Amino acid sequence: MSPIRLVYASKSRLVDANRRTELDSILSSARRFNDQNGITGFLLATDGAFAQVLEGPRESVAQTYGRIVVDPRHAELRVLVEEPIAARSFAGWTMGIAERDETTSFIFGLYGVTPEADLHAQPLETLVDLAGELAGRPA
Ligand SMILES: Cc1cc2nc3c(=O)[nH]c(=O)nc-3n(C[C@H](O)[C@H](O)[C@H](O)COP(=O)(O)O)c2cc1C
Repeated sequence: MSPIRLVYASKSRLVDANRRTELDSILSSARRFNDQNGITGFLLATDGAFAQVLEGPRESVAQTYGRIVVDPRHAELRVLVEEPIAARSFAGWTMGIAERDETTSFIFGLYGVTPEADLHAQPLETLVDLAGELAGRPA
């Protein structure tokens, strides 16, 4: 059965003081869980928003999204697509991440992602292309 991908965007509820710890905790539980469930994908994070690509078997993606959607560390989730795919785009990542910081803000800006037009306001293509570009950079 072919995998599906689900892409959503949300507004971050992380506060500056705990941001690093919370992001680390999100990533470590995401990677552990995703590894067990055949999920791959990529997470984009700015101060104000998230966008995430989840790829995997339909049932695993649905269960994972079901837990993510009730996580109080973000809000106003908007699913942009949920569709079968011929092949994964982030096969090597149990969950990759790119944060907007000094080194990446230029690339985020090239895709029109600014504090005024943050991730949650972007169309599907922009988010997937930006994630793909950032996933392809040397770490
Ligand atoms: C932005 C964001 C992305 C997340 N991505 C994943 C993910 O890819 N996989 C996953 O299992 N959990 C992810 N989580 C964490 C889940 O919401 C949840 O905390 C975790 O799966 C543990 O679930 P549990 O508390 O029910 O055990 C994410 C949370 C946030 C806020």
